[in-house]
Amino acid sequence: MPSKTALVTGGAGFIGSHIVGRLIQEGYHVAVVDDLSAGRREQLHPEATFYQMDVADPALKDVLVKERPWVVSHHAAQSTIPASLRDPVHDARVNVLGSVNLMEACRAAGVQRVVFASSGGAIYGNPDYLPCDESHPLRPLAPYGAAKAAVEGYLATYGRSFGLRYTVLRYGNVYGPRQNPQGEAGVIAIFALAMLQGRQPVIYGSGEQERDFVYISDAVEANVLAIQRSADGVYNIGSGEGTSVNRIFTHLKGILSYREEPRYEPVRLADVLKVRLDCSRARRELAWRPTVALEEGLKHTVEYLGLIDQTR
Ligand SMILES: NC(=O)c1ccc[n+]([C@@H]2O[C@H](COP(=O)([O-])OP(=O)(O)OC[C@H]3O[C@@H](n4cnc5c(N)ncnc54)[C@H](O)[C@@H]3O)[C@@H](O)[C@H]2O)c1
Repeated sequence: MPSKTALVTGGAGFIGSHIVGRLIQEGYHVAVVDDLSAGRREQLHPEATFYQMDVADPALKDVLVKERPWVVSHHAAQSTIPASLRDPVHDARVNVLGSVNLMEACRAAGVQRVVFASSGGAIYGNPDYLPCDESHPLRPLAPYGAAKAAVEGYLATYGRSFGLRYTVLRYGNVYGPRQNPQGEAGVIAIFALAMLQGRQPVIYGSGEQERDFVYISDAVEANVLAIQRSADGVYNIGSGEGTSVNRIFTHLKGILSYREEPRYEPVRLADVLKVRLDCSRARRELAWRPTVALEEGLKHTVEYLGLIDQTR
């Protein structure tokens, strides 16, 4: 019988905190490692054991040896593309060295499986074809995507040489409650909060760039299925549809009865033009499919941000 401990890195952040909640519901004891650089203490689950720690800290090994998790869900990261362009060394320190440090700790603690949060939006660069399947060449434009590709490479090596089993989930643009609306990533949360506060959202470039938006509960479900099914491999996790940033603006404008137009600013460096993900492998092997339509997910996100905004 495997011990039912799961360790979630980044468990105080947007996606990680939802995974923690869901794994606790599933009966796991959950330990969280997060340095709270972007995550929030209020988002920590009261039943989780919390270690405030940098994933690159050598003492991480002691935590894993103590907790002896059966599965590690690795969601801690420097999580924005612009920050990776400003400071690629910091990005690599957290996202590459932190991940290798975690893999070493997994090896020392005999961890069975790592689930890694990779990026379907950033890892392929400007795709040769759409929708992008998992065999598409990896040509990331930003250091953030290069780090994700490097970690996928390390996982494959740890799998071959040390027997570490792993699942890579290449998410599209995940959105929903608890995404930081004041950050540089998460266009839906950023636009919605700006509209709620009567500010004018900024669109970089023409706004015709397309992303594959996937709602948080669907992303969490992919994690649970990957663990339950002991799925080895790499999976795109998205809606399979491309939605332009202009379209997101228009949807939110309708939901919030916002009157202004967006402000357009020059395109940002390393911005992928259009991406949408072929998720048929996840459908086939994980029995996963996205269930929350964009309109519905946007409404949930706006409701959440409205409540948060009133309490500020
Ligand atoms: N949100 C998306 O659309 C999306 C898409 C693709 C991949 N991802 C990946 O999913 C994961 C979670 O993303 P998110 O959107 O929840 O971001 P987030 O910033 O909300 O969460 C990241 C968490 O990691 C923590 N963290 C950062 N540096 C750390 C360090 N050195 N040591 C320990 N903890 C550290 C932060 O405090 C935060 O709680 C990340 O790996 C991200 O790259 C996210």
